[in-house]
Amino acid sequence: MISSQPGAPAIEPISIRRPLRRDFVWGVSTSSYQIEGAAQVDGRGPSIWDGFCREPGRIANGDTGDQACDHYHRYREDIALMQSIGVNAYRFSTAWPRVLPKGRGAANEAGLAFYDRLVDGLLEAHIEPWLCLYHWDLPQALQDLGGWTNRDSADWFADYARLIAGRLGDRVKRFATFNEPSVFTIFGYSAGGQPPGTKELESFYATIHHVNLAHGAAVDVLRGVAGASIGVIHNLQPARPAHPTPADGKAAAILDDIWNRAFPDPQIIGDYPASLRAGIDLHRREGDMERICRPIDWLGVNHYSPIYAKAEGASPLGFAWAEVPADAPRSPIGWQVDPEAFRDTLLDAHDRYGLPIYVTENGAGAAEKLDAAGGVNDVERIDYLSRYIEAMREAAEKGADVRGYFVWSLLDNFEWGAGYTNRFGLVFVDYATQKRIPKASARWYAATIKAHAAQATS
Ligand code: FCB
Repeated sequence: MISSQPGAPAIEPISIRRPLRRDFVWGVSTSSYQIEGAAQVDGRGPSIWDGFCREPGRIANGDTGDQACDHYHRYREDIALMQSIGVNAYRFSTAWPRVLPKGRGAANEAGLAFYDRLVDGLLEAHIEPWLCLYHWDLPQALQDLGGWTNRDSADWFADYARLIAGRLGDRVKRFATFNEPSVFTIFGYSAGGQPPGTKELESFYATIHHVNLAHGAAVDVLRGVAGASIGVIHNLQPARPAHPTPADGKAAAILDDIWNRAFPDPQIIGDYPASLRAGIDLHRREGDMERICRPIDWLGVNHYSPIYAKAEGASPLGFAWAEVPADAPRSPIGWQVDPEAFRDTLLDAHDRYGLPIYVTENGAGAAEKLDAAGGVNDVERIDYLSRYIEAMREAAEKGADVRGYFVWSLLDNFEWGAGYTNRFGLVFVDYATQKRIPKASARWYAATIKAHAAQATS
C-alpha cells in the first residue's frame, strides 16, 4: 500500500457496510488517447483527435495528446502504482489507430505488442485487464471515409474487434465494445466540442444507428473468445428540466432520450426511444434491431452529475443545454455534486436493463498544483468519492446488482476539450517531467479497498 508522505493527514477509509459483494471489483479507469502519448511512435496512425487538437480554438491552451502521460513508455510504473493502490481491475482502451494505422487492412505489430506487454504486466501484478475497444479515437483514415456516418463502419469495427480478440483473448476476458457512445455522437455530430465537430442532424442519426450496429457486430465477434464476459459502457445521468415548466420538461425528456436511451435501449431492450424513431428510420434496414440487440453480460455505468435542458423551439432537436442551478453544490470544476442522483441512476438502470452493473467511471476534477510539501491533499475528491461510494452502497442495499466500481482516473490526463487543465487522477502527473505523485486520494482509496477486503473475509 502507498505510504503516507511526511506531514500528510491521516486518511480514514470509509466504512463500507454490507451488502457490497465479497467479490466486489475495485478498479481504476483510463483511456488510450488520454494517457498513452507516443502519437507518432512505432507506426501508430493518426486518430481523429490528433487533427482536432490542431484546429485552433478546439482545446484549452492548444493542448494535444501527443505526449499525454507517456503511458506507452511508462506503463510498468503505472502498473506498479495500481498495485500500490491495491486495485484488482484496470479498465483501459486499445487505440484503434495504433493497431490498425489506416483503420483496416494491415495490422501494426508494434502496436499489438504494446498491448501484449501491458496485459502481461497486469496479469503478473494480479490486476484483471478490462479492455474497452473504443474510447473515441477513431482512425483518421476511416473518418475520411465518413467515419460513423458510413454504414460500413459496423464492419470495420467488427474486423478491429476480431484483431484484438484474436491477439489478446487468450489473456483478456472482460471486454466492453464502446465507451459512452451518446457522448461522442452528441458532441461530435450535434453539439460540437468533439471531432468531427459538425452539427448536422441526419449525420447525427446515422452515427447513432451505425454505432449501435457496430456494437452488435463486435459482441458477436467477442463471443468467439472462450470465457469472455462482454459489456458496454454508457454515460447515464439524470436529465433535468431547467425550470419546472411543461416545455422544459419536454426538453429534458428529449435530452434523456438522446443521452441516456439512444444506445442502451436498442442494445439491451431492442428498440429505440419513440422520439428518435423517425430520424433513425432513414438509416434502418430490415433485421438491424436483431443485429444490434445481442445478449451481453454486464452494463458499465459512467456517472458524474445531472445534466439540464430547457425548451428551445429553434433548435433542431427541440432542446437547449441549460446551466446547473446556481445554488447546487459543485466540484472544483463546476460539475454538480449530487450523490443521490447516482444512487437513483443505478436503481433505474437496474430496473430498466436488469443486467449486472459495474460503475466503470466516477470521479471528480480539479485544477490542482503540488503544495509546498510536494503533495496534493485533495480532500474534496476524497469527500466526493466517499459520498458516491456510499450512494452506490445504498443502491445495492435497495436491490441494484452493482458488482464493481472504477475511479476515473488512475492518472491526471488529457481531458478532451479542457486539455490538461482538469485533473481527475488519484495520482498527480507533472507533465514537464512525467513524474507521478500519488495524491491523498490514492492513499484513501488504497485504505478503502483494504478495509473492504478485511470486512469481506471477516
Ligand atoms: C467521461 C469520459 C472520460 C473522462 C471523464 C471525465 O465522459 O469517458 O474519458 O473524460 O468523462
